[in-house]
Amino acid sequence: MVTVAVFASGAGSNFENIVLASQTENLGYTVALLIVDKERAFALERAKELKIPSYYINPRDFTTKLAMEKQIVSILQEYSIDYIVLAGYMRILSETLLKQYPNKIINIHPSYLPEFPGKNSIEEAFKTGVKQTGVTIHYVDSGIDTGEIISQERLTIDSSWSLNDLEKEIHFLEHRMYPQVLKKIFGEKDEKSSY
Ligand code: GRF
Repeated sequence: MVTVAVFASGAGSNFENIVLASQTENLGYTVALLIVDKERAFALERAKELKIPSYYINPRDFTTKLAMEKQIVSILQEYSIDYIVLAGYMRILSETLLKQYPNKIINIHPSYLPEFPGKNSIEEAFKTGVKQTGVTIHYVDSGIDTGEIISQERLTIDSSWSLNDLEKEIHFLEHRMYPQVLKKIFGEKDEKSSY
């Protein structure tokens, strides 16, 4: 069983979904920890409900990103975290975390990368008027949404949809994809380690 920490900055619907899915089906992972960088992140409320330990790490408490990430690493070690799962964490990770967790940090992005990287991807796809967008799950590297792609799915945008409808559909797709993709990653890891 892989022990996971989820990082979030906002609503935390993916965080909650990843936890609930792992409680109803054996997906090969358990979520031991939530890390947020925003005091008011609603993800914190969800963690309380789910009885998952959570930490708010205030970037302003640190003079450098290095110092902040060192603090995060020490918490991750305390909980014996194997993998980091980003779910709406709005911060670029630096070498400290990347070196500590090589190929063990996963992110979900609300577009079909390399289309619409960075922030506001759903809105940009909507405003650009493309007929299709999607969701991508990828490993994290030092770039912005540039790491190796693990899984992608297309979503066709219905011409009657509002931006709000598109956001809902993207989240629906994310919630369907993320637990199953994690299961696949951790399942393959288990198969290899059994030899
Ligand atoms: C998701 O759309 C994710 O792809 C993006 O941020 C959003 C987070 O939503 N990176 P939530 O906090 O999981 O509800």
